[in-house]
Amino acid sequence: MDKIIINGPCKLKGSVQISSSKNACLPILTSTLLFEGPIHFDSLPELDDIETLCQLLETMGAKIIKKDNATIIDASKINKPFADYELVRKMRASILVLGPLLGRFGKAEVSLPGGCAIGTRPIDIHLDGLTKMGASITIEQGYVKATVNKLKGCQIHLPFPSVGATENLMMAAVYAEGETVITNSAMEPEIWALGDFLQRNGVQIEGHGTSKITIIGTKTTLTADKKPLKVMSDRIEALTYIIAGIMTNSEVLVENCEPTHFTAVLDLLDSIGCYLIRNKNSVQVLPSKRTLKKFQLSTGPYPQIPTDVQAQLVALALVIKGESQITETIFENRFMHVPELIRMGASITIKDNSVFIQGGGVLKGAPVMCTDLRASAALVLAALCSEGTSTINRVYHLDRGYDKMEEKLRGLQANCKRVSE
Ligand code: EPZ
Repeated sequence: MDKIIINGPCKLKGSVQISSSKNACLPILTSTLLFEGPIHFDSLPELDDIETLCQLLETMGAKIIKKDNATIIDASKINKPFADYELVRKMRASILVLGPLLGRFGKAEVSLPGGCAIGTRPIDIHLDGLTKMGASITIEQGYVKATVNKLKGCQIHLPFPSVGATENLMMAAVYAEGETVITNSAMEPEIWALGDFLQRNGVQIEGHGTSKITIIGTKTTLTADKKPLKVMSDRIEALTYIIAGIMTNSEVLVENCEPTHFTAVLDLLDSIGCYLIRNKNSVQVLPSKRTLKKFQLSTGPYPQIPTDVQAQLVALALVIKGESQITETIFENRFMHVPELIRMGASITIKDNSVFIQGGGVLKGAPVMCTDLRASAALVLAALCSEGTSTINRVYHLDRGYDKMEEKLRGLQANCKRVSE
């Protein structure tokens, strides 16, 4: 297993290019199952989750050609609406094939994704919505088995603005009879990106990115638009590098990002004294002229502070004098980074779904273990500010959602390298 070795403390300098969003690409790639004809993607991020999903689509019969920076997916001929446990367990978002398969083919057999390090990750909201649209769903030997003659459009009010459930139901509605209205839908930028992708391929959809999405089902199978698509930038990757620049008190330009997609976090960082300049497609981080102030925050559904940047903000609090408090409201077990940060000398206590960080102490490099994607990013950030060598083990967790992270950090003059065991 590969590891990353960082010799801190590091001063960063230069610019970093943000890749396309993992959490926008995954639902968009599953939605290719809805369309006839090749779909051309430009510069998909090189992430294990994307690779796993492409493998899954190929097992179903999709044809995938990769040429230079292009990935061309043709799901005209899907002969196996089945998602095997071996692939689904590697990448939970595989459950997003359920909606398009059921909508277009009237049947789907998808392994239950199971839980992961951060929580039990149920899919009841997905299944309840599909059932409401007329699907017959059973759970057999760990698989969701779903059939329907034709899904029927209807009003679906989500009990929680689940990102995945919103996406599955949007895709299921494309070929449903009549109109589907999803209320209390997730409003993340990745939802907007999926809706925009569906719209460019002929789907009648509006309201994506708001809490009410309306889709008018179509009777004929749609043929995909031929224009190459570059998927929207990854707001969580951008925030990770912005926080790296702040923690190391460096001058870092984070390019090819969309600051309007992460306003809540930028407003928080401004309020504690960070020196940031927001441009249209970049954020300039500059050494702060003021002592940064401790902070309190809660994560929440968009447009609140995203859960996916909670671990990175815990790392930030380590370098700020005083007690900061972060409350996690989305997942029940998303503090796996805390014990590892404590190994680096951090002073953090957990009480219920909050962490209390006594920042301003000295961090020492240490061997640490990645447990999940964003916790791993927090360990990298802390290692950049620690005295001495940190060895970050099991970096496959990072590879799931960060495109060439060690290369990008070296591009910012960080003293880091990746070694294979
Ligand atoms: C998406 O996961 C993201 N993944 C997650 O990013 C992100 O943390 C999450 O949204 C919240 O923003 C992708 O987009 C691939 P949810 P998803 O359904 O869709 C509960 C990362 O690090 N829930 O909004 O699974 C659930 O248990 C990953 O990039 C139900 O109870 O998130 C959780 O507590 C991690 N029943 C909460 O809702 C359901 O049917 C949010 O889940 C569905 C969800």
